[in-house]
Amino acid sequence: YSEEARPLDPRRGPANRPRRLRATPAMRRLVAETRLHPADLILPMFVREGTTAPIPISSMPGVVQHSTESLKKAVTDAAAAGIGGIMLFGVPEHKDATGSGATDPEGILNVATRIAVAEAGDALVVQTDLCLDEFTDHGHCGVLDENGYVDNDASLERYRDMGVAQAEAGSQLLGLSGMMDGQVAAVRDALDGAGFGNTPILAYAAKYASAFYGPFREAVQSSLEGDRRTYQQDPANRREGMRELDLDLAEGADIVMVKPAMSYLDVLADAAATSPVPVWAYQVSGEYAMIEAAAAHGWIDRRRAIEESVLGIRRAGADAVLTYWATELAGWIR
Ligand code: PBG
Repeated sequence: YSEEARPLDPRRGPANRPRRLRATPAMRRLVAETRLHPADLILPMFVREGTTAPIPISSMPGVVQHSTESLKKAVTDAAAAGIGGIMLFGVPEHKDATGSGATDPEGILNVATRIAVAEAGDALVVQTDLCLDEFTDHGHCGVLDENGYVDNDASLERYRDMGVAQAEAGSQLLGLSGMMDGQVAAVRDALDGAGFGNTPILAYAAKYASAFYGPFREAVQSSLEGDRRTYQQDPANRREGMRELDLDLAEGADIVMVKPAMSYLDVLADAAATSPVPVWAYQVSGEYAMIEAAAAHGWIDRRRAIEESVLGIRRAGADAVLTYWATELAGWIR
């Protein structure tokens, strides 16, 4: 593609004037290449065990740890706003070395799933985070070996059970975010063996060890010390994102995700260019907190910044976006 420039006629000026298509709101709307639609937004939600009222998360103004009661209204609001889905995270009262709350049918995430499914009907897709970190006392996404190293294959056994427990609770899409090797194949096998062959898997295919998960650690009251660099990807690596994507596709992922979003738009564009399945992106807690904090200071226009940030993620190739603004944003754009 190349634009032949007309020899400059000093009287007539440039022939090619991209500004013609920017002159009015109606024209700009007509020629927009990317649009935001409520159906492409997914709301991550935190549900805390043992609380009767929602608890604000200070590093994420506007986001709360829900009680099972406040969850109901939030799900109804999300459905009314027309968003595509919700992603549930559990905040358990008790944690242990193997994250036993994750596989307990009465564990908070499984309880919350049943409530959300009953509340949502078929208005949106109820999804669950399939990872042990909220449930382990050491805060890692798997179980530890005697040296404190996250034991990949032992963790897969826990993920298998967790996947079945979530499917039994009614989860309509399992979000595998633990970054253990072989996790998609393991959970797929367990689901199929338990009669859940129709329950789809969202693989957090390219997930990076990011500073932008900071506020999430408060949101789930993470007990993690140290970091996740032995299992999440190095932010330096772009090609490796495609390797993770290929592996998850080969193992049977139905949808793939890139996470975080804003600092990884190149990885997202790569994934969108080659993936035969839907590609989603997660606008994570730190991305949320940055915009909220700057807006609170009056340094940026909050609504414009939110819309631009999510539009940029869609433009880079995400078919859908997990964002803590999903319900509010849907209200603006519908
Ligand atoms: C792991 C998980 C994390 C997030 C989503 N799933 C934390 C992590 O990997 O450290 C972060 C989401 C966010 O920051 O908004 N269960």
